[in-house]
Amino acid sequence: MESVRSIAEVMQEPDLELNEGRQSVPSVSGRLTLRGVTYRYADADGDALHGIDLDIAAGETIALVGSSGSGKSTLLNLVLGFVRPTSGRILLDGVDMGSLDLRTVRQHISVVPQESVLFEGTVRENVAYGLPAARDREVTAALEAANALDFVRELPEGWDTRVGQHGARLSGGQRQRLAIARALIRDPRILLLDEATSALDAESEASVRDALARLMRGRTTLVVAHRLSTVRQADRILVLESGRIVEAGDHEELVGRGGRYAALHAGSLG
Ligand SMILES: Nc1ncnc2c1ncn2[C@@H]1O[C@H](COP(=O)(O)OP(=O)(O)OP(=O)(O)O)[C@@H](O)[C@H]1O
Ligand SMILES: [Mg+2]
Repeated sequence: MESVRSIAEVMQEPDLELNEGRQSVPSVSGRLTLRGVTYRYADADGDALHGIDLDIAAGETIALVGSSGSGKSTLLNLVLGFVRPTSGRILLDGVDMGSLDLRTVRQHISVVPQESVLFEGTVRENVAYGLPAARDREVTAALEAANALDFVRELPEGWDTRVGQHGARLSGGQRQRLAIARALIRDPRILLLDEATSALDAESEASVRDALARLMRGRTTLVVAHRLSTVRQADRILVLESGRIVEAGDHEELVGRGGRYAALHAGSLG
C-alpha cells in the first residue's frame, strides 16, 4: 500500500518535480542510452552505480542479474526518473531525460514491482488504476493476455469482486497476473520489471511466465530477473556487481564464459 501510495503521489504531485516548462513527450520509440551514469544515495559512503555506459535498442529485452545490493533496482529507478544521475546522462530516444517532462515520459512506461501491490477495490479498479476511461473490452483484453481472465470470471462477482484486505484472497500467481494486466492495459513502450522471487506452484509458474513473455514482446524491457526462463528469453543479460556491469551477453555465451554469471546460474539463479 505504502509503495503504491507513494508512487501515485510522485506521479500526480506537480510540485515534487521540476517538470514545468520541460519538453513533453507525446510518443516514444523506447531507445535508452546511459552515458557515464553514476548514482550515490544521499548520506551513502560510496556510489551505488559507477559510470554505467549502456545502449538499449527500442524493443530490446535486458535482464539484470547480480547479487543483492549490486544496483539493479537503482538502475530501474534511474530509468524511471525517480532518481536522477549524480553524474552522467540518461537519454530517451536520444534526448536527455533531464530536459523532459517526466510526467509525460511515464505515460509510456509501466512498472511491475517485485511484490505486486493490490489495493482495496475491485479487480477492475486494480487493473485500470489511473485510467478512468478504460473500456470493458480493453480490461478484458488485458486480463486475457495476462492469463487472468479465467480465474477472474470465476470470482464471486467477476471483476467487480473486491480484493485486498477485505476481499477475495488471491494466490501469489493470481496477484502477479493482475499486476501484468495492469501493465498491459497501458500498452507501454518501456517496461520495468522487478521479478518476484516468491516461488509459485508449477501451473501458476507456467501461466505467469507465458503472460510475462506476452507483456515484454515488442517493448523495451529492463527486468530484474530471478527466473531462469526470463533470463533465457532476454536479448542481453547484464551482470551487475557492486554497481558495475561486469559481464554482458546472452545466456549461452555467459554460461560458456564460466564467469560470474555461470557461478550465479549454478547457485541461486534458476
Ligand atoms: N535508499 C537508499 N539509501 C541509501 N543506500 C541505498 C538505498 N537504496 C539502496 N541503497 C544502496 O545502494 C546499493 C544498490 O542497491 P539496490 O537496491 O540497487 O540493489 P539491488 O541490486 O536491487 O539489490 P536486491 O537484489 O537486494 O534488490 C546497495 O549498496 C544499497 O545498500
Ligand atoms: Mg532490488
